[in-house]
Amino acid sequence: MNVFVVNGPNLNLLGEREPEVYGTLTLDDIDRKIRERAKELGVNVRFFQSNHEGALIDALHHIRGWADAVIINPAAFTHYSYALRDAIAAIAKPTIEVHLSDLKARAARDPFRGVSVITDVCSGQIMGLGVDSYLNALERLAGGTG
Ligand code: DQA
Repeated sequence: MNVFVVNGPNLNLLGEREPEVYGTLTLDDIDRKIRERAKELGVNVRFFQSNHEGALIDALHHIRGWADAVIINPAAFTHYSYALRDAIAAIAKPTIEVHLSDLKARAARDPFRGVSVITDVCSGQIMGLGVDSYLNALERLAGGTG
């Protein structure tokens, strides 16, 4: 199985970005943990991060011949990118939306975080578990329950 792991804007700053919300792991740390778990599960993984909506969309289009499934943290695009939503629907792969933080809890302070325009084109959504959001998504996809 081939899984494409996609991260959206500002996630390149993980480790230094609001560590009280997002933790202290860098994106490289997270990718390393995903790679290790993928190896145990016999899954091939490729990674992509961009701060640009169009680059994320292009990457999804480009990878569609290779990928069997997608794990995506759309970051702030979660809340308003219909173009990213359409790209996920267009490539029609099992896709799990993940978030490090718990958007439901954060919506009390930032109401916009309570809205995801991505969820209903995804096969699942996992949030609030830090790096385990990604690892649980990988396990679900590998187990055929994604
Ligand atoms: C995030 C949550 C989003 O609201 C935020 O814009 C992010 C990260 C998360 O992983 O918790 O950049 O997707």
